[in-house]
Amino acid sequence: MSLVLITDSDLGEGVEEEVLEAAGHEVRRAAARSPEAIVEAAAAAEALIVQWAPITAEVLAELPALRFVSRLGIGVDMVDLEAATACGVAVANTPDYCIDEVVAHTLAFVLAATRGVVPHDRALRHGGWAPIATYPDAARPADRTVAVIGLGRIGSRVATQLHALGYRVLGVDPLAPVPPDVEPATLDDAIAAADIVTLHLPLTAATRHLIDEAALRRMPRGAILVNTCRGGLVDEPALLAALAGGRLGGACLDVFEREPLPADSPLRSADGVVLSAHAAWYSPAALAELPRSAAVQVVDFLAGRTVRSIVNPGYVTKAPDLEEGTWTTN
Ligand code: OXD
Repeated sequence: MSLVLITDSDLGEGVEEEVLEAAGHEVRRAAARSPEAIVEAAAAAEALIVQWAPITAEVLAELPALRFVSRLGIGVDMVDLEAATACGVAVANTPDYCIDEVVAHTLAFVLAATRGVVPHDRALRHGGWAPIATYPDAARPADRTVAVIGLGRIGSRVATQLHALGYRVLGVDPLAPVPPDVEPATLDDAIAAADIVTLHLPLTAATRHLIDEAALRRMPRGAILVNTCRGGLVDEPALLAALAGGRLGGACLDVFEREPLPADSPLRSADGVVLSAHAAWYSPAALAELPRSAAVQVVDFLAGRTVRSIVNPGYVTKAPDLEEGTWTTN
């Protein structure tokens, strides 16, 4: 029997307990978001299930019993992967639970932005029946170019489905293959050519603020930025300046540098901006699947079975040392 700590989760309770207790493990829940609170709650845990709690090098150093971290979600930007690998801690994400949902949300953003759906809705609610001369910009899909940055599970489907809708699609990824009908491009060329830029890449030290002032300046005047990925990919003050100066035509954002988005964030009132509250992943099916998958992989790992979604395969397994209370790597 192992102790498994759920550091934090706003997804509801019960599913992880059902899966883990059926396998004979003890489960505890915390609402730990600070390093101190995580260390205190997780002192004897062999596995963590983590939503947003920061699993830093300092936290990992204080948790000698820890062997496995299961992320409630796809991104692992809250875990220091290098430190986990060095400490012999395997980290797994839940890679499949919301692919179709995020793809659909991204398409909804692109379609809303290129068809003027939100301004039409707002105008009509305010009593008008707009004459054609006042219509918001709306394009024939074939007349618009979309740059899809990141061609992993989500980005490649976004690219393929946008092409099926008639858009010209440029694809950027240093490693992943470019789907048929998608034109390969470098980041700089794609950003400079696109009417719409949509982001589908992990947040890492290398990708933080990928869309900064310089990148925003390279985008054609009036272009639209779509982000259903991670807020930290975009320099928000630079984005706000580009929107205010009219250089950027709009932004469709599901994620933000600070979440929840502060009540006084200027993004809430910026023109041309369509917002959702980190909800691109959501459907009842995804919500049911996520905690179950995160718990099942804890059970598998602790039973010594293969876990497909380990993101730091270079970790070295921790095994109990002969001397009680200490751990070594093998
Ligand atoms: C995720 C998320 O990482 O919901 O899956 O952001």
